[in-house]
Formats: sequence, C-alpha cells, structure tokens
Amino acid sequence: MTAALSYAAQIVAGLLFILALAGLSKHESARRGNAFGIVGMALALLATIALVVTLNGLDALLLLLVAMIVGGAIGVHRAQRVEMTGMPELIALLHSFVGLAAVLVGLNSWIEVTSSGAGHLDVLERIHNGEVFLGIFIGAVTLTGSIVAFLKLSGRTRSAPLMLPHRNVVNLAALVVSLGLMVWFVPTGSGIPLVLMTVIALALGWHLVASIGGGDMPVVVSMLNSYSGWAAAAAGFMLSNDLLIITGALVGSSGAYLSYIMCKAMNRSFLSVIAGGFGSDGAVTGEARDYGEHRETSAEEVAALLTEARSVVITPGYGMAVAQAQHGVADLAARLRERGVQVRFGIHPVAGRLPGHMNVLLAEAKVPYDIVLEMDEINDDLASTDVVLVIGANDTVNPAALDDPSSPIAGMPVLEVWHAHDVIVFKRSMSTGYAGVQNPLFFKDNTRMLFGDARERVDDIRGAL
Ligand code: TAP
Repeated sequence: MTAALSYAAQIVAGLLFILALAGLSKHESARRGNAFGIVGMALALLATIALVVTLNGLDALLLLLVAMIVGGAIGVHRAQRVEMTGMPELIALLHSFVGLAAVLVGLNSWIEVTSSGAGHLDVLERIHNGEVFLGIFIGAVTLTGSIVAFLKLSGRTRSAPLMLPHRNVVNLAALVVSLGLMVWFVPTGSGIPLVLMTVIALALGWHLVASIGGGDMPVVVSMLNSYSGWAAAAAGFMLSNDLLIITGALVGSSGAYLSYIMCKAMNRSFLSVIAGGFGSDGAVTGEARDYGEHRETSAEEVAALLTEARSVVITPGYGMAVAQAQHGVADLAARLRERGVQVRFGIHPVAGRLPGHMNVLLAEAKVPYDIVLEMDEINDDLASTDVVLVIGANDTVNPAALDDPSSPIAGMPVLEVWHAHDVIVFKRSMSTGYAGVQNPLFFKDNTRMLFGDARERVDDIRGAL
C-alpha cells in the first residue's frame, strides 16, 4: 500500500516539475513556477523516504537521514554565504556532484551484478550493462567538465581556451574508443573496459570545457546543466527509479534547449559548443590596440544630461551585480519616469554571470516588467535614444563583436549602444570584461566614462538630480 502511494506521489511530483518549468518560462509566472518546484521536490523526498522504509526497513531510514542532514547542512551553509555573482561557479560545482553521483551509482550497480556471480549474461543483464556504461560515461564527462567550469568561472584558472594540437581529432578518438569499449563491456561485464572508459571520459570532460573560451562559458554552464540531467536520468535507469528518470530527462532536455537558445543569441554553433570549441580557430584574446583617448564625465554632468533627455535606455551588466546598484538604478529610472522621460532597460541574453541574472536583479528592485526589454527588442530604438547608461556592462556592448573578425567575441550580437546620441559608461577602470577584450566603445566620440563603483555613482546622480 505504502509503495503504491509512494509511486503515485512520484508521478504527481513529476507533473509538478513540468508545471514548474512552464511557470519559469515567463517573468509573471516565475514565482508560481518556483512554488510548484518546491512542493514537487518536497513530495518527491517524502515519497522516496516512504519507499526506502517500505523496501529496506528502518535501518535504511537512519542512513538516509544522516546523509540528508549532513548534505543539507553543508548546502544551507554554502547557499547562505554565496554572493549572487558567485552563483554560476556554485552551480557548476553542484553539477559536478551529480556527475560524481552517476559514476558512483554506476560502479555500485556494476559491482552488485558482478558479485552476484552471473556467468553467461542474459538480454536484461546486457541492457543493464549498457545503462551502467552510459551512466558512468555521462557522469564522468559531467564531473570533470563541471570542475573545469567551476575553476574558470571562479577565476582559479585562466578563462582563455586551451588550444591543444588536433584537439578535435582527440575528442573524436575518445568517443570512438569509448564506443569500442562499450561493445566489449556490454556482453561481458568485464571491469577492464569500464575502468578504461571512465579514465577516458574523465579526460574528455576536462578537455571539452578547457577548450572553450571565456565568452562562451554561459553556453557551457547550461550545457553541463543538461549533461547533469542526463547523468541523473542514467542513474534513474540503473536504480529503476522512475522519478529520477523523469526529473533527469526534464533537466537534460530543458538544459539542452536553453543552450540552444543561448547559442542562437550569441551566434554560436550548437554543435561547436557541445564538441568543445570545435571549429573555433582559437582567435587571440585581449590584443592591445590604440583606440585613442577616452573622455571622462562627472555625476553632476550626467544628471544635467538626464534632465534634458526625452528617452533613456539603461543597459546593465555584471558590474551592476557586483556593485549591488539595482535598487539605486531602479529609483533613478522611477524618478526620470516621473519627470516624463521614457526610460527602458535593454538586457543582453548573457549579461552578468548566469541566465536571467539582470532580470532577477531588476525584478528584486521592483522595476516594472514592461520597461525591461530584450536585446532584439531594443536594438533598433537605440539610434533614436538620447542617453544610454551602460551600468557595469562591457562585453555585451562591445562593437568589436561586430567590427573585428579576429576578436574572440566576433559574431556575438551585442547591444548597439553607440548609435545613441550620448553614452555614459559606469565602471571603475579601463580594464576589460569577462572575455578579456578591449572595448572600442569607451573611445568613441559620443561616449563618456563615469569612473567609480556603480552604486556610488548612481547615488551621486540621484543626489544631483
Ligand atoms: P563583463 O563583460 O563581465 O564586464 C563587467 C564590467 O563591470 C567590467 O568591465 C568591470 O569593469 C565592471 N565592474 C565590475 N565591478 C564594478 C563595480 N562595482 N562598479 C562598476 N563597474 C564594475 O559584463 P557583461 O557586459 O555583463 O558581460 C557578461 C560576460 O560574462 C560575457 O562575456 C558573458 O559571455 C560572460 N558570462 C556570462 C554568463 C551568463 S550565463 N550570463 C556566464 C558566464 C560568463 P571595472 O573592473 O573597470 O569596474
């Protein structure tokens, strides 16, 4: 009876996860979507605990509770301390845990079957071996790929792409050899091909992500998110756990779709990114060029400019998140709107460090959704805009992406702010953005630099208005 109820609860939890994803696809329904996700996960946990107790008795419950309390305590501790700007690296690290879990579940599953002493393997056992092999392969790629992503995103290792000679051939060879090892493993269940494949998959995951340049990391993070989903689904097959299969497939497919959307937004080939920089010619990063002199301005001058303006567009970036300037920016926008100025926000799909980063910050500061526009919606209006305030954005407003084919961000669509009458750039220095490339925008005739912490400068302007 308990087992039947528990299976039914798993199906309801699966449906709630689908509703959660549907809700998260729009600003207006995102909170509701989150609530569905939380209820679904709580239900899934209760159903799993009930099932474990029914099938394995109270001893298993004790082990489960110890693991949950230790894991939960570490999770709460980390989540409370992480800055919003540190979320992508934390997420990358969490993806690596899913990969590790899939590898361990796979190895355990293989040991169980092997130790049962089966001689000749029947069809079901061969299918099970296939699940084990694929689960460990995806898990191992996710594990090391996510660790490299964590190291790159947290600045512990350089974000420039690793350009090994013949890297595409190396990746392809790893896949072909792994396929050969699978043909050996499935009918025999032998440990040698399994161990060899695990080593190859670990190296492949490391190499795939190491070959990706800094500017393409957003796509890699969502790709790894997708891989971690497939790793969880593979673990679900090995454990015969339907909920894990459903949840893993949802994460895997939604992550793959998000990666596809991001590739389209950044004008990157989806296949290139999955294959680890396949086809990229290893364009040089950060080559210093002389673009002339930049011009500076002051908060008072910007306040005077805004008083005269009829239309203002604000393009926030990672620096707004670092400075936590969103509340001041929201207040500045509200005050200008009260004076009859048309104020809109232009959001680049990869501004900040995680998908939707700027949208989350602006929603937190209660900026109305209808004035927050996506890059494609605002780009055509920039030429008729009086003032653009670039608040802590750099790569996402870099004209080199369109003008310089040798730039590492070449081809990436950007917010074309330089078409506006006046552009004010809020940042602390002339240093480069995440992709490590110089930004010719800062040297254009209609651009003025407003140096300093974005939050302080925005407060100065509010004071001077
Ligand atoms: P970035 O190119 O990262 O530039 C941010 C700028 O903010 C920096 O040039 C920095 O200049 C400035 N800044 C930092 N702290 C500041 C502060 N307290 N006050 C004022 N300015 C400050 O930003 P972006 O335009 O948002 O582009 C995002 C980049 O991150 C892209 O290359 C994207 O590919 C990459 N990325 C995105 C994601 C996702 S999913 N969104 C994930 C990983 C990587 P100073 O140091 O001179 O102040």
